[in-house]
Amino acid sequence: CGIVGYIGSRNVKDVVVGGLAKLEYRGYDSSGIAVLDDGNIKVVKSVGRLANLEDKLTSAPVDGNAAIGHTRWATHGKPSDENAHPHQDCSGRFAIVHNGIVENYLSLREELTAAGHQFRSETDTEVVAHLIEELYNGDLFQTMIAVGKRIRGAYALVVLAKDHPDEIIVLRKASPIIIGLGENENFVASDIPAILEYTRDIYVMEDGEMAVLTKAGVECFTMEGEPVQKEVYKVTWDAVSAERGGYPHFMLKEIHEQPKAVRDTLRGRVAEDLSGVTLDEIGFDEAFTKSVDRIHIIACGTSWHAGLVGKAVIEQYARIPVDVEIASEYRYRNPIYTPNTLAIVISQSGETADTLAAMREMQSKGVRVLAITNVVGSSAAREADDVIVTWAGPEIAVASTKAYTTQITALYLLAIHFAHVRGNLNDAGVHELLEALAALPQLAEQVLDTAPQLKSFARRYVEATDTFFIGRGIDYAVALEGALKLKEISYIHAEAYAAGELKHGTLALITDGVPVIGIATQPDLYEKTVSNIVEVKARGAFVLGMTWVGNDDLEKTVDEVIYLPKTLPALAPIAAVIPLQLLAYYAAVARGNDVDKPRNLAKSVTVE
Ligand code: G6P
Repeated sequence: CGIVGYIGSRNVKDVVVGGLAKLEYRGYDSSGIAVLDDGNIKVVKSVGRLANLEDKLTSAPVDGNAAIGHTRWATHGKPSDENAHPHQDCSGRFAIVHNGIVENYLSLREELTAAGHQFRSETDTEVVAHLIEELYNGDLFQTMIAVGKRIRGAYALVVLAKDHPDEIIVLRKASPIIIGLGENENFVASDIPAILEYTRDIYVMEDGEMAVLTKAGVECFTMEGEPVQKEVYKVTWDAVSAERGGYPHFMLKEIHEQPKAVRDTLRGRVAEDLSGVTLDEIGFDEAFTKSVDRIHIIACGTSWHAGLVGKAVIEQYARIPVDVEIASEYRYRNPIYTPNTLAIVISQSGETADTLAAMREMQSKGVRVLAITNVVGSSAAREADDVIVTWAGPEIAVASTKAYTTQITALYLLAIHFAHVRGNLNDAGVHELLEALAALPQLAEQVLDTAPQLKSFARRYVEATDTFFIGRGIDYAVALEGALKLKEISYIHAEAYAAGELKHGTLALITDGVPVIGIATQPDLYEKTVSNIVEVKARGAFVLGMTWVGNDDLEKTVDEVIYLPKTLPALAPIAAVIPLQLLAYYAAVARGNDVDKPRNLAKSVTVE
């Protein structure tokens, strides 16, 4: 999660551990440092807080001219001393820290084990250390070019080598890393705040670039070893906004991280030829996958809303009946389940008390539980029978955004997997869905371009006291999440309604100027939703409509429209929720609220 490296004459431990501390707010579960000390690499690692690492470093001090450090947010393998970075090869000549995912680590691990390498951790990262050792030919730079050709996936990789004490090598593919330029010293870090104390001159590494840091300077190259001329980027932000990557709030940063979060959650789980889904981490064999006759999805808050989308897609594609339940309700109501019921708990934090209690209750009855969570070392991840990790990365704003879209992504994968194995979808159907799924990150990027439009729409909500979100089918699930976002951070009363149900009561609340958000992304339900929009318009509502691009028809009915890029109807929620997140965000900012820490709410509710 956090990377800091340093080459120069300062106290390396202070620079590296101090830098990691600046990234602490992102969350982590273990940390470690490797120092080139007297011609040898010394590695110290510890599970838990950075203070634990500092304690170890007090009793066994390290010193040198080059060091790399890391705070880990567990992905492959639980939080432990062994799984913490830096990782080393067998001989201890190399030490590396890594952010990202090495997709082909299993095959590399097999290959390297066969070649005699012994592994100490469960991580994907450790294979890279052994691969360096295996390919090393005395020329570290050329070796790293060769390593770059062998590893697939996403990485920001920083390498320290015993035989090359005067340099640190950095590689980047799809995982952020920056280089800080100093006088007779240089820095590398996963994010700017880590090194802002020492320098404001930065090289931002691009995808497919590598760099060699020495005390005297920094040289950048392509992954083929061709020199690259970089421009110095001058950081003008203060330390506080640097933590947020230049965004005024974590929530806005996290909204913008969604394309990457969805991409990371899909990574390695969709076959390159789009022939199927690989969910190796869950232990469902074919017999089990075919035997499931009921699914209970249990969650709270935003995670529950993701579950509602999950129900729609699992039922549509895999034809398994799904109940979605609020955890605090589910656990007290003696639910009915069959011997072949699968329970799915969804929890960003993996620590929500009611969700855990419901999970334990089901397990005690012998029901198999799959957890979809964003935190590998969490209680849900440890206790569930199977786990799918959403790779959103740490979510800091209380109002959940990127966790929601990645939970939905995981549920799509699961629905397609079930449908494929059970024969509800043929190969062509799977191909079509996976193609659309793989395009979602790019769609999310396009939707983010509507931010300025949403900012201006949000002005209308600043003075509002009541708002309504309407939609049908899967759009109703998105409406619930949109209304929750607005409530959570803007404190404006917002109610989501199934559009067809309006007439049964809520319509009485629609008067002149009441804002209504009408979501109409489903071609099959489009006309029905429009007739509900007409009903609220006739009572004076001010309607913001949302539909797919090209469907100009909606403009005839509503006051303002947001167009979403086209995708399969079932996949619309990821694009559809983003404008609603932005609307809530801008309304909350305009009202002067503490967006990241709304009143009365907590990120993780660990009480019942
Ligand atoms: C709290 C948070 C919400 C979150 C809910 C469930 O209410 O503020 O954003 O959706 O808990 O949390 P979980 O970690 O279980 O997904």
